[in-house]
Amino acid sequence: MTQALDEIKIGGLGASRKRVEDDRFIRGKGNYTDDIALPGMLHMEILRSPLAHARITSIDASKAWEIPGVHLVLTGDMMATRNLAWMPTLSYDTQAVLATDKVRFQGQEVACVIADDPYIAKDACEAIDVEYEPLPVIVNPTQAVADGAPVIRDDKENQADNVIYTWEVGDAAGTDRAFEQADVVSRLRLHYPRSHPSPIECCGSIADFNRATSKLTVYMTTQAPHIIRAAVAMVAELPEHMIRIISPDIGGGFGNKVPVYPGYVCSILASILLERPVKWIEDKTGNLISTGFARDIYLDGEMALRKDGKILGVRMRCDADHGAFFSDAQPSKFKIGLLHSAFSAYDIPAAHLRARGTYSNKAPGGVAYRCSFRVTEAMFFQERMMQAAADDLGMDQAAFRRMNFVRDEDFPHRTPFGFLLDSGQYRKCLDVGLQAVGYEDFRKRQAEARAAGRLLGIGISTMTEPLGAGNSREYDILGIKMFDSAELKVHMTGKAIVRTGARTQGQGHETTWAQIVSHELGIPAEDVVVEEGDTDTAPFGMGTYASRSTPVAGAAVAMVSRKIRAKARKLAAHLLEVSEEDVEWELGRFYVRSAPDRGVTIQECAMAAYSNMPDGMEPGLQNTAFYDPPNLTWPFACYIAVVEVDPATGVWDVLSVVAVDDCGVRINPMIVEGQIMGGLTEAYAMANMQFITFDAEGNCVGSNYMDYLLPTAWETPGFELHSEVVTPCPHHPIGAKGIGECAAVGGPAAFVNAVIDALSGTGVRNIDMPLLPDRVWEAITHRRDVSGAPPVRTDD
Ligand code: CDP
Repeated sequence: MTQALDEIKIGGLGASRKRVEDDRFIRGKGNYTDDIALPGMLHMEILRSPLAHARITSIDASKAWEIPGVHLVLTGDMMATRNLAWMPTLSYDTQAVLATDKVRFQGQEVACVIADDPYIAKDACEAIDVEYEPLPVIVNPTQAVADGAPVIRDDKENQADNVIYTWEVGDAAGTDRAFEQADVVSRLRLHYPRSHPSPIECCGSIADFNRATSKLTVYMTTQAPHIIRAAVAMVAELPEHMIRIISPDIGGGFGNKVPVYPGYVCSILASILLERPVKWIEDKTGNLISTGFARDIYLDGEMALRKDGKILGVRMRCDADHGAFFSDAQPSKFKIGLLHSAFSAYDIPAAHLRARGTYSNKAPGGVAYRCSFRVTEAMFFQERMMQAAADDLGMDQAAFRRMNFVRDEDFPHRTPFGFLLDSGQYRKCLDVGLQAVGYEDFRKRQAEARAAGRLLGIGISTMTEPLGAGNSREYDILGIKMFDSAELKVHMTGKAIVRTGARTQGQGHETTWAQIVSHELGIPAEDVVVEEGDTDTAPFGMGTYASRSTPVAGAAVAMVSRKIRAKARKLAAHLLEVSEEDVEWELGRFYVRSAPDRGVTIQECAMAAYSNMPDGMEPGLQNTAFYDPPNLTWPFACYIAVVEVDPATGVWDVLSVVAVDDCGVRINPMIVEGQIMGGLTEAYAMANMQFITFDAEGNCVGSNYMDYLLPTAWETPGFELHSEVVTPCPHHPIGAKGIGECAAVGGPAAFVNAVIDALSGTGVRNIDMPLLPDRVWEAITHRRDVSGAPPVRTDD
């Protein structure tokens, strides 16, 4: 029998193939939205509000209109004549496209100018005279619900206060009973600060309405082109088949490029009005102050504990500050996303969560920055709470976690908040991590260092998270059910093209989707081209965010490959002149069961599909598969950081980081490692340096790269990665679980826990992120918790 082709050699599952897309990126040949220039193209700039809360008393754009080269000035009133001054958000709220009545956050879009070039447009924006009447400003939930607080959303009928929702989940009575039986109750309160995904490429769009064909083409930086097409069709009341969204190369998304932003809408309207292409490219400050903030949540929790360490119950309360518009791009029916995935990895009999969302005079927040809809906040709180509880019990951090983990033999496991976990080896992951970091020995080193006046600390973060929204039963965006599809065409020479509705932004889909086809069909990966991002050619999909590509679109790629294989089997039977039942499959080849030497390759079958098909068979070899996942996938990870804190300055250095990730079967181990390193880098940045907040007037502090720091290779610590724990996902066609965001979700708690561990014995339970030296120093010197909640003081 012919030997099965070596899968790794052809670039199939498990091959660390170099990313094919990198070839054009490292040569500077990427094709980003800003690289595109269309004939007759005009340029749009946005005038933003300097104030966080103010009534607009007048807008005088006459001087802007007079500037040579200006073609159009758009204001809220003009948008209103077309019913476009407001737009619906993905969370069933409304958001101002251009302000009419009031401005509600600093940086809000007030007017747009379309001109021959961006410089003229910018100058003309400055020539627009806007009169504001300042109003009191709200920058946190306490202010939002205080007596007499101004109502931010007075545009909404029946909105008498600043509360957006209250929501609860879990078993309140059962949790109360657990607390009655507790020997120890542990408490923790913290603020997960606003953070910003801050992709290197800002948002932008080029709208091109062609009056002759009535076709609207929009090139834009979106992670979800099909959803944008649906939104444009619904909001602008344009026929969906006449809208083409093209998402070219994207310079990082991280959730920032999921929502619909006013700039997109204005460029589309301007192109329709002017019948010329209109380009809008946001500047960095615009991106940092007005688009997709994440987190900003106050978490308060209690844990009921037996004195031997068993967790009996958990209570969580949260106040989420959504900013001026509730525009979270989250597809769950749960108001606070998947925050109730907290504590899923632990076997806890009872839990209850109560959440409240409020408006504030800040840019809309709640974007899932490298995160599945609040799982970052959930896992951070979980692992900070686990540390506090272990400390309260006087128990070892690792032993406390190990004792409470869901055990391998207990899957499938239903969490007290209702999720179903299918698989995992949590203890093994932890043990590999502890071994790698030298945990036993560390405690000795820590004690010796402490005696010498040095503060060493170790932080453990073990987490699982729900990745791959959705399944259509539970997840939808504006009623559109969450599933994905893939289309595969195998040409007659055996080369293939696969298209999905996902959109890579650096994750490497062009490499890994080809590997899945290769695994399923034995076609070398280099013979498979991957295309995404054009709604006229790609099949429907809900986009790429929340590490959902592999769990959903990747699964669709496997399923469509299997459909192709099923047809190829019929072709093989025809070519081999045997019945289909007598045909066996090995990678890349069908053969006759009773005569294994007689076989045909997948490429020969492809040629037959166009040249020698059996009577009655539809010619060609192409198909589409829609994939509706039965459940989310649940990867698991153990991140451990070791740090040293300088007691004199509060500066802390990372001595080592160990990461053990179990994301099931790895399609491309090298890409997976890249994803983990990127996630850990962002986790470190959030914990250590990224500071973007608001003062009492609602001014955004940190809206530039001098304050909101992106870690470079210089600051970023080294990471030791482990891949030996592999628990395939039982319901995914190739056993893969998502990985893209795990380290960004689980990583921050490892760093913060390590610093708090270094301060053990001081009574300090919490320092809010970022753990800037002055905050750590304040905690050390005053032996107290340090909050980073806004408003910040700006007078010192
Ligand atoms: O949705 P997104 O692409 O951001 O996240 P993902 O599905 O976790 O995948 C990130 C990258 O890692 C993709 O190129 C995947 O194909 C790859 N991956 C992998 O090789 N093996 C896995 N088990 C999971 C992801």
